[in-house]
Amino acid sequence: MKRQVLKKAMCFATAAVLLAGCGNSTPAEPAAQPAEETQAEAPAEETAEAPAEEVASPGGRVGVSMPTKDLQRWNQDGDNMQKELAAAGYEVDLQYASNDVQTQLSQVENMINDGADVLVIAAIEGSSLGEALDMAKSAGIPVIAYDRLLMNSDAVSYYATFDNYMVGTVQGQYVIDSLDLDNADGPFNIEFTAGDPGDNNAGYFFNGAMDLLKPYIEAGKLNVVSGQTEFNDVATPTWASEVAQSRAENILSSFYADGTNVDVWLCSNDSTALGVENALAANYTGTYPIITGQDCDIENTKNMIAGKQSMSVFKDTRTLASQVVKMVGQILTGADVDVNDTETYNNGTITVPSFLCEPVFADANNYKELLIDSGYYTEDQLQ
Ligand code: BGC
Repeated sequence: MKRQVLKKAMCFATAAVLLAGCGNSTPAEPAAQPAEETQAEAPAEETAEAPAEEVASPGGRVGVSMPTKDLQRWNQDGDNMQKELAAAGYEVDLQYASNDVQTQLSQVENMINDGADVLVIAAIEGSSLGEALDMAKSAGIPVIAYDRLLMNSDAVSYYATFDNYMVGTVQGQYVIDSLDLDNADGPFNIEFTAGDPGDNNAGYFFNGAMDLLKPYIEAGKLNVVSGQTEFNDVATPTWASEVAQSRAENILSSFYADGTNVDVWLCSNDSTALGVENALAANYTGTYPIITGQDCDIENTKNMIAGKQSMSVFKDTRTLASQVVKMVGQILTGADVDVNDTETYNNGTITVPSFLCEPVFADANNYKELLIDSGYYTEDQLQ
């Protein structure tokens, strides 16, 4: 696996365990049979890093279910998966579900009826696909949970994601370092905006940050002026920017209209950070806060360059796609499947063997190296 970009990148998390060096394997589920015919050649372009090379492709049909086209990252994930699977000789059935659970359910059922050999699913709501997962299990089709864990089901064979808790700790550590919380007197004012309660990742992001920041809140160095510190109070259904924006507007008008400064707005990802940034632009004249994010979406990267967002966490969707394509090949050939975590991700029914890719700290100082030099974006896209 090519890890130059990750290796070079500045990462605040100290436990920089390089994934290539920490993989375990579990035997592949026996469920699906490789498709008989060989596939059409692979016309897709090679992505800039970690093409799905090492595993021989047996061919077959792969159903890829993505949650929505509304948020930038899923378009990239879908594109990468399609390219890499096609390049490895698979037939790809890629569907986006418009953030509608029923649509995703019927799309996955159609994939099963259309003869998928493996399913790769990024759920809208982790616990809402039970029926389709049962169907997949009865049909002997292995299921890979993509980025978001599929909950309350024993039909999930593997999980591939980024280290979600680490995303939160990178954000939390950034706040600690930026404010020099161990030495500064404070207090500093902080607000939190978390993700979608239906997405199992959202709690990991929030807890990763909160576990680091809580001692400073308890010591009075960080003051949550709104008093909203529980995940359910700060969550953002569907991760929508507009939802985050309107909650931020309410907080600003209720608690900061008297000229109180907000020093930090801890946002779990870029779409929610964007909402907060819009609210601040329209309703706030105090000192501009530290704002965290995740994904390095184009709009947010522009905002980092313009000083309107302090940091993001880069999760190279090409790396995840490569890993999943490799998993598909390993499953279909009956080889051992690369995993590096067999303990963390219990979905309420089983603990799902997982491969966690490493998230990387990003800001205005290192975005060129991470995003442009690696070919993730062109310079024009960030103008
Ligand atoms: C992903 C994040 C993303 C969020 C909203 C999460 O499941 O892990 O990268 O920002 O969904 O799309």
